[in-house]
Amino acid sequence: MCGIVGINSKNEFYVRDAIKRLKRLEYRGYDSFGYAYGSSLYKKTGHIVVPSSDDKTKRIIAHSRWATHGGVTDANAHPHVYENVTLVHNGIIENYQELKDLYLRKGHKFLGETDSEVAAHYFAEKLKEKDMINACSDFIHDIKGEFAILVLVKGDQNIYALRRDSPLVLGVGTDMNFLGSDIYAFSDATNMAIFFENDEFAVVGNDSFQFYDKHGKKISKEVQTFRWEQEESMLQNYDHYMIKEIMEQPKVVKRLLFSLDTEQKEKFHEFTAEMKKAKKIIFVGAGTSYHASLLGVYYLHRCGKAAQTIIASEFEHFIDVDEDSLVIALSQSGETMDVIEALKYAKARGARIASIVNVPYSTVQRMSVISLNILAGQEVCVAATKSFTNQVALMLALAKEFGYKVNMESLPQQIQSVLERSGSVKDMAMGLKDNEHLYVLGRGLSYPVAREIALKIKEISYIHAEGMMGGELKHGTIALIEKGTPVIGLVSGKDNAMLSNLKEVGARGANVITISNEAAGDIRLETSNDGKFGILASIIGQLLAYHIANAKGLPIDKPRNLAKSVTVK
Ligand code: M6R
Repeated sequence: MCGIVGINSKNEFYVRDAIKRLKRLEYRGYDSFGYAYGSSLYKKTGHIVVPSSDDKTKRIIAHSRWATHGGVTDANAHPHVYENVTLVHNGIIENYQELKDLYLRKGHKFLGETDSEVAAHYFAEKLKEKDMINACSDFIHDIKGEFAILVLVKGDQNIYALRRDSPLVLGVGTDMNFLGSDIYAFSDATNMAIFFENDEFAVVGNDSFQFYDKHGKKISKEVQTFRWEQEESMLQNYDHYMIKEIMEQPKVVKRLLFSLDTEQKEKFHEFTAEMKKAKKIIFVGAGTSYHASLLGVYYLHRCGKAAQTIIASEFEHFIDVDEDSLVIALSQSGETMDVIEALKYAKARGARIASIVNVPYSTVQRMSVISLNILAGQEVCVAATKSFTNQVALMLALAKEFGYKVNMESLPQQIQSVLERSGSVKDMAMGLKDNEHLYVLGRGLSYPVAREIALKIKEISYIHAEGMMGGELKHGTIALIEKGTPVIGLVSGKDNAMLSNLKEVGARGANVITISNEAAGDIRLETSNDGKFGILASIIGQLLAYHIANAKGLPIDKPRNLAKSVTVK
């Protein structure tokens, strides 16, 4: 987590413009923020505030924090300064305590409790004996843990940038260079980028840069030209990014489907060929992406293609992978640490790695032999909405190649019709907003959807919601059902077992709300296809979570304690 930005320019630019760039990364963490330029240092808890002053500079580093080590305080916010060194850091320095003890013995004073502050002391100490190139190389050898670090040294015109396991990219502009945790930091200014690989560092000037390997040996790297749908990163007339992104779904699904027939056509066929060739298909993902992968497994299973999925953080404990395995990662950001770790584990055992991501050139994509893009455009709200829908749409399109019957062309219009029912979902939300607990039940296809709806309700509306298998209910959870407990039941087709489960909770006083297509229900979705039922029902869940949170006045786009890209274990 944490977002970092650096700019080194030949000409002066407004500090406020640089901080607007940091704001584009605020979804990565939003406990506190800070920046340093010239002799100025500013750091504060809370959401990023763009300064109103006309201050200009040629060089700046900035940081948006998601706290790991040390509380949310001004002192723990970045940048950290020690003597002639100022730096920002994303990641965790695992051996920080050992280093801190060493520096304390030498008489250093620390201002906060973070692991990152130690890095400033490290460089300041090294610079007493050697130059920055050697200091960076030593840092990579001596430091245990993960880092994307930007360092300014007093009297030096460069920004030093180092990476291991936390994302870092250089944007190559005209007379200026950008550094960022991802391409959003500069995607409006340049589409040329160089992605740092592990244990690389770079010296970034205002119109030049040089990359080095961990031994301090110069390396040359290719500049990549990336494509990005820039028009969607503004709030426009919406109150929140979440509702804007929900409303964009017909458009982004259409864009994805079009791409599968055009620019991604060849890759799509190669991807399917990889799946056909593989003896074992194992998906991996976290959170919402895991739910999308569960739907993928369901669709494939329906047409006789065996596949499994494992939650990324538990991957190595529950599955054996080998040369016969194709491991397919699903990740919006392509930077989720648990997913990256699972892929490393799989790769080390000879598995082939494929992926489905939203952010192009992300680490997960770069680790893959083949990768498809879901083309959802930037998703700013922490809660995944349009990225989930496009992941599932892509899963349906893949399953179709294995014989799953589904008409994809009508999907954007069907999503549009669901969005037009936002008003009635809002009425439902008013009846649910004051509950402390809520249950969402599904079976088969609707089980992953139940989990996804519950996740949206938890993270955005702060209601404890449990998404579970209808069949499991009577093995324990039914004890929690009392008069008035809300239970949302997802009934796809004539799912009599699910209808019985809803009767069982109804008989115990639950307030049952049914989302169905064929059976009678409070919300009837117009599709006879179970695959599309999954997508449409989850969109009802997105709207429900949004309206509940809005009615409660919650910080919808940046819910407490969360960050969009989870780049720590
Ligand atoms: O970027 P990823 O898809 O790998 O992210 C995985 C999860 O962190 C993410 O889906 C998370 O669960 C969302 N906040 C859910 O809305």
